[in-house]
Amino acid sequence: MTIISPSLLAADFAFLKDELDVVKASGAEAIHLDVMDGIFVPNLSFGLSVIESIRKVSDLIFDVHLMIKDPLSYIEQFAKAGSDMITFHLESDSVVQATIDAIKAQGKKVGISIKPATPVEALVPYLDQLDLVLVMSVEPGFGGQSFMPECLPKIAAIRALAPDVLISVDGGINGETSKLVKQAGANMLVAGSYFFKAEDKAAAVEAMKA
Ligand code: DX5
Ligand code: ZN
Repeated sequence: MTIISPSLLAADFAFLKDELDVVKASGAEAIHLDVMDGIFVPNLSFGLSVIESIRKVSDLIFDVHLMIKDPLSYIEQFAKAGSDMITFHLESDSVVQATIDAIKAQGKKVGISIKPATPVEALVPYLDQLDLVLVMSVEPGFGGQSFMPECLPKIAAIRALAPDVLISVDGGINGETSKLVKQAGANMLVAGSYFFKAEDKAAAVEAMKA
């Protein structure tokens, strides 16, 4: 069973409620919410107020991906805004254990993301405390980039170490790359451009689940 989490970053921000309805109708279970601060990554996206507003009109799983310098300072606010899963970067400035504890204290699912250059070993001390590992298959910051196959051995290594953790893959996922990452052990897929550019969204979700 593969969870599909379309990334809102590729949606039309003038019609957020309609876009969330489209995601729901497609058969996807979650919505991936990319929060960027212009410091951890060289781009800005959206933040708390947008998440708070869309929470009122969607019952999708809110899969929040924090690409921010100091996630620990904002965990409580992102939890209260309506996140279901909160994922932060291992490469951020926050103390990793304290950030895990803060997410758990809010009763939310906890995830850690690693950038393409970060080895799996760095994750190992925390692995048994995580609900989700988000493996970046592009450099974080922008949608529409090409999938980096270098992530595949990392996915397989995480799966070997943690048979039950959710492994999500983010960046350049489409009907073809989804097969490669699932084969390596992923069971959650983030898709921005592939999903929102698809004429037939249900077929795109089907292709990624197949
Ligand atoms: C990139 C974001 C991704 C992005 C994926 O920093 O974390 O979630 O939206 O977009 P695609 O699927 O177009 O690569
Ligand atoms: Zn993301």
